[in-house]
Amino acid sequence: MIKAAILGYGTVGSGVYEVIRKNRDIITDRLGEEIQVKYVLDLREFEGDPVQEVLVHDADTIINDAEIAIVCETMGGEHPAYEFTKRALESGKSVCTSNKELVEKHGPELIKIAKEHKCSYLFEASVGGGIPIIRPLRTSLAQEEILSITGILNGTTNYILTKMENEGLAFETVLARAQEKGYAEKNPDADILGYDACRKIAILSSLAYGKKVNFEDITTEGITAITAVDFAYAKKMGATIKLFAKSVKKGDKYYALVAPFIVGPENPLYAVKGVFNAILVNCNMGGETMYYGKGAGKLATASAVVADVLDCARHVGKHLDIRWEEQKLEISPIDGAVRKFFVRVSCTDEAKIRKHFGDVEMYTDIVAGECGFVTEEMTEAEYREKAAKFGSVLSMIRVD
Ligand code: HSE
Repeated sequence: MIKAAILGYGTVGSGVYEVIRKNRDIITDRLGEEIQVKYVLDLREFEGDPVQEVLVHDADTIINDAEIAIVCETMGGEHPAYEFTKRALESGKSVCTSNKELVEKHGPELIKIAKEHKCSYLFEASVGGGIPIIRPLRTSLAQEEILSITGILNGTTNYILTKMENEGLAFETVLARAQEKGYAEKNPDADILGYDACRKIAILSSLAYGKKVNFEDITTEGITAITAVDFAYAKKMGATIKLFAKSVKKGDKYYALVAPFIVGPENPLYAVKGVFNAILVNCNMGGETMYYGKGAGKLATASAVVADVLDCARHVGKHLDIRWEEQKLEISPIDGAVRKFFVRVSCTDEAKIRKHFGDVEMYTDIVAGECGFVTEEMTEAEYREKAAKFGSVLSMIRVD
């Protein structure tokens, strides 16, 4: 029997407890031995909940118990999760976490400590909730050079954009309704401004390229400026608008960006609707693979934590290596990134537009007094220069 502990009995922690309890027979059958949750750490009491029997209020009880082989850190936030994780790893206990913030900030250090103490630090649930993506990057794609990762990594924004598209509503209206129904946070900034997706692509890019990508180095734009009119143009193009979190390797340069993109139906991410997340990985040998599922939610996220628990249980006393050095990966300024741009201008003079932007595909008749067009490929720097010279640009959305 493998003994485990859960740090934090919130949404994910209680989900981990439930997955291990409800799927006990399946897990025991597949693993060849039972996983028993010996302790759950939380400051609160949970009267009437069976968890009460294993509830403890002091992390030392867990850290000092030599029987505990695996710790699930589902507390969230940096402190005290960082200190508890470090102490657990230093005691030779593997840690499985859903804590994106901790992984993004301290991932390489915690992996190194795990290596030194012959245990593992696994974090499948920290990106994409229940979607297997960290393990494929670590194992199935270990032989590949990863050329690009493009993700819809935030369910709240994908839900809002899907509603705007389907119902022709304004961003503010959909956000307010989503908040009323509890689909969006009361303070939705981390989602709608793109910061949540940014942390997630920072983790995925670090794993893909082996060095630390700092989320502060990633240009991040949210979806707050997207309007119903933008969707009317996208519809005319036979396309949609998605918040993409992207990283690309071009020669010896790396680019990363979180921003809304015009996406056509030929892209498999076009079909990802509502709260679902998906990640498209392009590799130099096997080409594209895509990973799809629930990016958040109690049981989906908990299931990913428990997948890591099983991995650790199969490798007690060994380190499951993840290549992620503390050395920083230089992210090039996006000025040099090449793509097409969808531009709306408060002018309908096609000759003037072509004079400034070159050969463009025009979209007229959506709103009186303005028009939209898609440019040919150019660098971000070139686009900015042309837009500044042209003057009457209303908005720009990058085209995938
Ligand atoms: N708020 C996130 C989302 C889930 O909407 O996808 C947690 O990462």
